[in-house]
Amino acid sequence: MEATAGQVVHLADYRPTDFVLERVDLTFELDPKQTLVIQRSLMHRREGASEQAPLVLDGDELTLKAVAIDGNPIDESQYSVNDKQLVIGNLPTGVTFEVTVETIIDPEANTKLMGLYRTNGTYCTQCEAEGFRRITYFMDRPDVLGVYTITIIADGSANPVMLSNGNFLGAGDYGDGRRFSAWYDPHPKPSYLFALVAGDLGVVEDTFTTMSEREVALKIYVEHGKEARAAYAMDALKRSMKWDEEAFGREYDLDIFMIVAVSDFNMGAMENKGLNVFNDKYVLADPETATDQDYANIEAIVAHEYFHNWTGNRITCRDWFQLCLKEGLTVFRDHEFSADQRSRPVKRIAEVRHLKAEQFAEDSGPLAHPVRPQLYREINNFYTTTVYEKGSEVTRMIATLLGRPMFRKGMDLYFERHDGQAVTIEDFVKCFEDVSGRDLTQFSLWYHQSGTPLVSVSANYDAASQEFKLSLEQMIPPTPGQQTKEPMHIPLAMGLILEDGSDAKAATVTGGEFTDGVLHLTERTQTFVFEGVANRPALSLNRSFSAPVNLHFDQSAEDIVHIARHDSDLFSRWQAINYLAIQELTAAVKTTEAGGDVAASPALTSILMATASDEALEPAFRAQVLALPTEADIAREIGSNIDNDAIHTTRNAIMYSIASAIAGPLEYLHAMTTNNGAFSPDAASAGRRSLRNSALTWLSHIDDGPARAAAAYAAADNMTELAHALTVLAHRFPGSNEAEAAIAEFEQRFAANPLVIDKWFMIQATVPGDTTLRRVQDLMRGSHFAPNNPNRLRSLIGSFAMSNPTGFNRADGEGYRFLAERIVEIDGRNPQVAARILTSMRSWRSLEPGRAAHAKSALLAIDLSGRLSTDVRDLIDRMLK
Ligand code: ARG
Ligand code: ZN
Repeated sequence: MEATAGQVVHLADYRPTDFVLERVDLTFELDPKQTLVIQRSLMHRREGASEQAPLVLDGDELTLKAVAIDGNPIDESQYSVNDKQLVIGNLPTGVTFEVTVETIIDPEANTKLMGLYRTNGTYCTQCEAEGFRRITYFMDRPDVLGVYTITIIADGSANPVMLSNGNFLGAGDYGDGRRFSAWYDPHPKPSYLFALVAGDLGVVEDTFTTMSEREVALKIYVEHGKEARAAYAMDALKRSMKWDEEAFGREYDLDIFMIVAVSDFNMGAMENKGLNVFNDKYVLADPETATDQDYANIEAIVAHEYFHNWTGNRITCRDWFQLCLKEGLTVFRDHEFSADQRSRPVKRIAEVRHLKAEQFAEDSGPLAHPVRPQLYREINNFYTTTVYEKGSEVTRMIATLLGRPMFRKGMDLYFERHDGQAVTIEDFVKCFEDVSGRDLTQFSLWYHQSGTPLVSVSANYDAASQEFKLSLEQMIPPTPGQQTKEPMHIPLAMGLILEDGSDAKAATVTGGEFTDGVLHLTERTQTFVFEGVANRPALSLNRSFSAPVNLHFDQSAEDIVHIARHDSDLFSRWQAINYLAIQELTAAVKTTEAGGDVAASPALTSILMATASDEALEPAFRAQVLALPTEADIAREIGSNIDNDAIHTTRNAIMYSIASAIAGPLEYLHAMTTNNGAFSPDAASAGRRSLRNSALTWLSHIDDGPARAAAAYAAADNMTELAHALTVLAHRFPGSNEAEAAIAEFEQRFAANPLVIDKWFMIQATVPGDTTLRRVQDLMRGSHFAPNNPNRLRSLIGSFAMSNPTGFNRADGEGYRFLAERIVEIDGRNPQVAARILTSMRSWRSLEPGRAAHAKSALLAIDLSGRLSTDVRDLIDRMLK
């Protein structure tokens, strides 16, 4: 299971280690350039393992100082060491022995932000997936569990806060300026869940009383002066703890739970046992600086990391191929939490939009892979939307197939049966088979087959026999390494909607299983017959997006509008309108390309108007309906020969035609007041703000100047409306005095707040059109840019490459050339961030030939640039294959 640079790791090669870890004692003598790490591990040879087998420990960029067995120093006659491994021979059999390893590491030089590093003067760690080996030589894999005791020693004045996993043992002074702090975590855990934080930080404190009446201390550590901005995260944490007790019966299991916010972090956050480390972007919020989306993200990510305590930490993964076991399941849990805290249908719409934009895109390109992959070259490249979001959808389908009460029983069994273990997807699925008696063999193909299934639908109603016939055909497109596919078990929630808007109750259904409104498509082609349907119904299929599939269905606009008006499932009403819109938009792009003029159909215009002004519907839902498919959505739907400029022009023309027709209602919505008194981030208030923002966007398509947007900018008293008004000014009226003035004013007002400057970067980097590249280059030379900070890199360069279809995909290829140079630069310091931004080019083969040729030469330039990280090397090879 060893991945040395560029070597492929196969699931089929899994075998347990020869040695079993029992306990680990770690002592850190912290120093910015020379930190000493002393590890003492108790272990024994596994029963049945060869007596000759040496102990093989992983390492990465470590300086080895000393090795001892049972306290006796050993030398290179008994061990060998290189850049990646420490191999120790002549170890005993049948007894527990102690291995001591002393290493020196350089936190300040650690720009990869994996292992122990420094961020704004604070020491912190990130060990998932393979960062612990950058701290000490270790069996650094998730199936090696140990009980950890940690001692941190550091300069006391610079590091009044010293934290690690588990419960606090004690702290003290050495009298020479140094202090120590000791921690003990009674729960056996893998090394990737280890964490250490030391520095001078402020803290926000609270408590939570668990369902068995235990009091847990809650602490959120932030930079001094930012304490007030952690209040919402604390509130979200308490609600998460409560929800996990109620929804899953899961109680917290230590005396203390801590979150630390740091400003340099490769990902969103990390679920280290009892000591979560967060990107500060997902902790800090107040009305002046955070948008409603920021609040929702904080709530979701605080919940996600907390939920990992059971799904990930108490029960962990046997190996990294099982990553979806913890990530897919935990995303499902945080989705359900947010749905319960907010509006379930609105949350589902946002999830599906994101799933299609990211996962469907990944699944249809060169980086497609199964939810549980068979092989990898670089595990960091598998923290993907497929593992996370499709993994969540697969879990959701199990809940749909079994029904919620049976799903809960399966989860209960999973927690009971596997607590304290490192397990596989098969172990997880078996729990649901055991409680329900259902065979999930075919269903499990969702974990193994990549690619988004396409379900083709044809429907026919026969009035004489009162039969509704539904024929379905499933096709799973070929993906890398998987040319042919088996038919899958696809649960499709559905309804037959009669003229009066009610659901038809069919007497009997033949042709396959149909239970609780869910159709089970299991064959390649299958025909279901609904008998006793008195009138011709409109078919509402894949309600709530019960299966992550593409549907191909020539449904009449009339039926779609009927569903949009009447479906009992609010999500399906949005889905119907979205379907109508994407059909029209893609057809209109063809018209544009053929030189014709485009306008929206009366059907689309009137359903948008009716839904937007329907006061009986919640504002957040109406805002979702008003949000047309994005340019990226349209590109994905077209699928090949993409001309981003044609898509941009067409979408704007359609928006112009709709906005002209419904200007009155839009003005009414824009005039709405969103704030009755004090700001509140709750879902209902956020919904009103998003509806009002949406009205401003639409109106900007018929306004002949920036006056309205400039007035909205001046009037905004919260970041959601301020940032939106700035976006409309910058994107719709680029170069206008009003836009430039607002950009300058925003910069001035928020110059001291890097997280807000990230929004400023993002808004400017996503201005459509050819001139934005120049602006991005200028901003990189400006004072706010920090080439080593992941958030700055992602908000300026990442958003340009990922969220600016016309600016990045310039027909002359300059966008790609620029990105290639940046990727090579960034890769030298931080491979994970470089690789993540590079995925913006994953769909390059679907571009029109001119752009595709430019994109390919940019990828080849990276390919030939010399020393690439495994992360970027792996992606480049797959994208060019
Ligand atoms: N487990 C973290 C989460 O909650 C993600 C950490 C991934 N880190 C990495 N360097 N690959 O999603
Ligand atoms: Zn996670």
